[in-house]
Amino acid sequence: MNTSDTKEIQRRRTFAIISHPDAGKTTMTEKLLLYGGAIHEAGEVKAKKERRSARSDWMKLEQERGISVSTSVMQFDFSGLRINLLDTPGHADFSEDTYRTLAAVDSAVMVLDNAKGVEKQTRKLFEVCRLRRTPIFTFINKLDREGRSPFELMDEVEKILNIQCNPISWPIGMGKGFRGIYHRLRKKVIVFQDEGFATDEAKELSFSSVTDTGLRELIGPELHDQLVEDIELVDGTIGPFDQEAFLRAEVTPVMFGSARTNFGIRAFLELFCETAPAPFPQQSYQGVVNPTDEQFSGFIFKIQANMDKMHRDRVVFLRICSGKFERGMYAKHARLEKDIRLSHSAQFMARDRSLVEVAYAGDIIGLHDTGNCKIGDTLYTGSRKIEFAGIPQFSPEFFARVDLADPLKRKQFNKGLYELCEEGTVQLFVDPRVGDQDPVLGAVGQLQFEVLLYRMKDEYGVDARLRPQPFKHARWIRYRDGRKTAVDPGLVKGTLSFLEDRLKNLVGLFTSDFHLQWAEQNNPDLVFLENMMSRVETEET
Ligand code: G4P
Repeated sequence: MNTSDTKEIQRRRTFAIISHPDAGKTTMTEKLLLYGGAIHEAGEVKAKKERRSARSDWMKLEQERGISVSTSVMQFDFSGLRINLLDTPGHADFSEDTYRTLAAVDSAVMVLDNAKGVEKQTRKLFEVCRLRRTPIFTFINKLDREGRSPFELMDEVEKILNIQCNPISWPIGMGKGFRGIYHRLRKKVIVFQDEGFATDEAKELSFSSVTDTGLRELIGPELHDQLVEDIELVDGTIGPFDQEAFLRAEVTPVMFGSARTNFGIRAFLELFCETAPAPFPQQSYQGVVNPTDEQFSGFIFKIQANMDKMHRDRVVFLRICSGKFERGMYAKHARLEKDIRLSHSAQFMARDRSLVEVAYAGDIIGLHDTGNCKIGDTLYTGSRKIEFAGIPQFSPEFFARVDLADPLKRKQFNKGLYELCEEGTVQLFVDPRVGDQDPVLGAVGQLQFEVLLYRMKDEYGVDARLRPQPFKHARWIRYRDGRKTAVDPGLVKGTLSFLEDRLKNLVGLFTSDFHLQWAEQNNPDLVFLENMMSRVETEET
């Protein structure tokens, strides 16, 4: 690969923001895009969010499709880097798509509300990042409001998420008394000046030490005493930031600020640019694939179907893992072992969808597809076959069976169900003792069911109804030594329902936490997995 292409790859930074609803992800995204020049006024991202949350069903979502797709990947430049920010919809949009998107990033930013700390959705998304050992930054938001003490918040992150915190900045005051942050790496104080969206919102002042009298005068004796005490404690107990441990996802750098008042975002973005990793090498069945390899390769992590209903087209999102993409090139589809031409490629900037001529490892491109691609498929060029390890399946939290309104449409119903499950719309579990009859469908978010019903009607002409099932957890069940288990009701004590997923892995469904715990405790030879990581694992016996 020539030097200029290598440089292009090395300046890619691809990340996502994870947070519980209302922690400030949209506000932070907006501020980052303002710094990157990808949007020019505050309110653009928020307006999009409002349009999306205002809709109440999938039909409206369908109408809004153009908007949601064009903002799936936001690209901007900052400090010489080309940054790809992938949208991970939360709120009503929460679904497996959200999880799968995290398979396509090299780092993530976890935004926490300083009054609430680690919340349910934060924890779920964090666990998904952990599966791939994705390095994570932490931004503690809303410091302009009263919240919990920084020590207490970091303690919570360490205990619940089991990752070490290293505060890069430290807040000076909080709520109405919030004055700014002390930057531990730069030994600088950044003080709050005024509200607004100007990029030079803050005054940065250097002090040789935190005990400097000038700093004391600036922030007053009370805040200064507190700051000195806090920093002494932090320096004494936590020590310097270890970049390698961050890249191994053992440590998270923590910054404090307020996205709404645009305070601490610039310092955060600078830290991100200094520390976030360039595209990582990716594991494939054929060995490690380096981003700067000459061979082009990538995997599909998301499918958006029916972009244009008349043409039944779909857009598949490809994360480029190595090499360079050029529009019109041919690539091999690893599973189908056939060549396909990558001509209708789109890149999704913050506002416009434009044809992309060239893209590099780390970038995400949208490709029009006529039905060849599934989630997890690999595309590559060159003679060495490349197949990436696939996208994990995640334990569903909502369960339903599905009924057909008109029995004469059984054939279309089965076809639709099969195809939509293959595409990853919902997960399908069958009881092998009765075959494909009356399968249980599973989803991590309710929206997935809405999408299924809508598409069954719209694309297959079938009216279907859901029968919710009382399960709470699904777990893939294996022997402790990794061997696959067979479906045998006598095998697992306490599991009420045994089913198989589409790769014939045994799945147990549990109606309560108690039932799950009971089964775990009474089956010491077995493990109950929340995620099924890869195809290698699922195909071996
Ligand atoms: P989300 O995408 O994570 O769901 O959160 P979002 O950015 O939409 O923020 C949720 C609410 O929290 C918004 O208030 C937003 O203004 C507010 N918020 C975000 N960052 C901060 C911050 O640093 N400080 C304070 N005090 N509030 C913050 P809202 O009432 O829903 O909207 P709005 O009327 O304020 O626009």
